[in-house]
Amino acid sequence: LNELIAEGVRGRYILVRSDLNVPLDGSAVTDDGRIKASLPVLKKLSDAGARVLVTAHLGRPKGAPEDKYSLKPAATRLAELADFKVQLANDTVGDSAKELASGLQDGEVLILENVRFDARETSKDDAERGAFADELVALTGSNGAFVDDAFGAVHRKHASVFDVATRLPSYLGDLVHTEVEVLRKLTTDTQRPYVVVLGGSKVSDKLAVIDNLLGKADTILVGGGMLFTFLAAAGHKVAGSLLEEDQIPVVQDYLKRASDAGTSFVIPTDVVVASRFAADAEHEVVKADAIEDSTFGAAGIGLDIGPESASAFAAQIEGAKTVFWNGPMGVFEFEAFSSGTRAIAQALTDTVAFTVVGGGDSAAAVRTLGFEDSQFGHISTGGGASLEYLEGKELPGLSVLDR
Ligand code: 3PG
Repeated sequence: LNELIAEGVRGRYILVRSDLNVPLDGSAVTDDGRIKASLPVLKKLSDAGARVLVTAHLGRPKGAPEDKYSLKPAATRLAELADFKVQLANDTVGDSAKELASGLQDGEVLILENVRFDARETSKDDAERGAFADELVALTGSNGAFVDDAFGAVHRKHASVFDVATRLPSYLGDLVHTEVEVLRKLTTDTQRPYVVVLGGSKVSDKLAVIDNLLGKADTILVGGGMLFTFLAAAGHKVAGSLLEEDQIPVVQDYLKRASDAGTSFVIPTDVVVASRFAADAEHEVVKADAIEDSTFGAAGIGLDIGPESASAFAAQIEGAKTVFWNGPMGVFEFEAFSSGTRAIAQALTDTVAFTVVGGGDSAAAVRTLGFEDSQFGHISTGGGASLEYLEGKELPGLSVLDR
């Protein structure tokens, strides 16, 4: 980005892909982490006199406008935080976008409406995506440039991420740059012991990352809904807890390969079991190998790791030099089942290790639980993107810039 600024951007239309995909409660932004993370690049360009056009997505609309996926709440929050003028177009490449773009003054920012309101954004057809990219690029006139600052979307081969970069002089945004530098520390010359904390509901979402971590991580601590598939793989009954039966053999294979690879899995020894999935459900702590013996019998559902496991996990984190955490330990949105996630967040803030929190849910979890971003080494804005980076996959948004 500094290279572009040095070339001079005053009066030029600079297209910036940002990640403004924030969680909403109606029209209120419940976690503005991604908006705050997007601001510095927009400010840098604004200060340098660029006319900034921002593209972003929110949620997964089906290729047509839908009110609930409008960028309006995100744009409003961005405008509150910014010290430059921010406007939102009513469409992405239509009359509103064209008119507001042509009236843009130096240093002003125009956010285009959700790129996913146009089905061509995510099309598998190169020509379709290309046609949409052409329309986005046309808004930049004859001397435009593109800055990719949406780390959370670099794993998407979408028009606003990939195809525009093949059509305009393109630059890496500071946020993407920082994210890549940090995540690289988790893949090369990692300071050991390297402890990975994995949670979240499904093991099937984490298979590739687990595969890639075998032999690289010293210890993998398993929590969240996926722990029950690990317990089942170890031969335990999990009552009504979340279970991916088809993944049991896959997990058994991981457990077998892990010891040969020098990675050890730590699976909870106790869990919090509830009578039903509700904030006010009755609950009790039981041994992980005796879930069916709880008061709720076969109907009991595990919604958090237990205190003994939380302490064991915290001790592993304390002894680590590098920690990567992805995925909550339990249903942290319900106070009664947030202790495990809180204990991990606390352990990450207490350790001297270099700590990275990756994944939208984990970032939202630590902020919801009252922790500050500054208490962690790095909180990634990427969910899927940070996992795919760690999986060693090629990320279209980055490889197109390399080219
Ligand atoms: C995210 O939330 O991880 C990014 O914004 C990407 O969103 P997507 O998974 O809908 O592409």
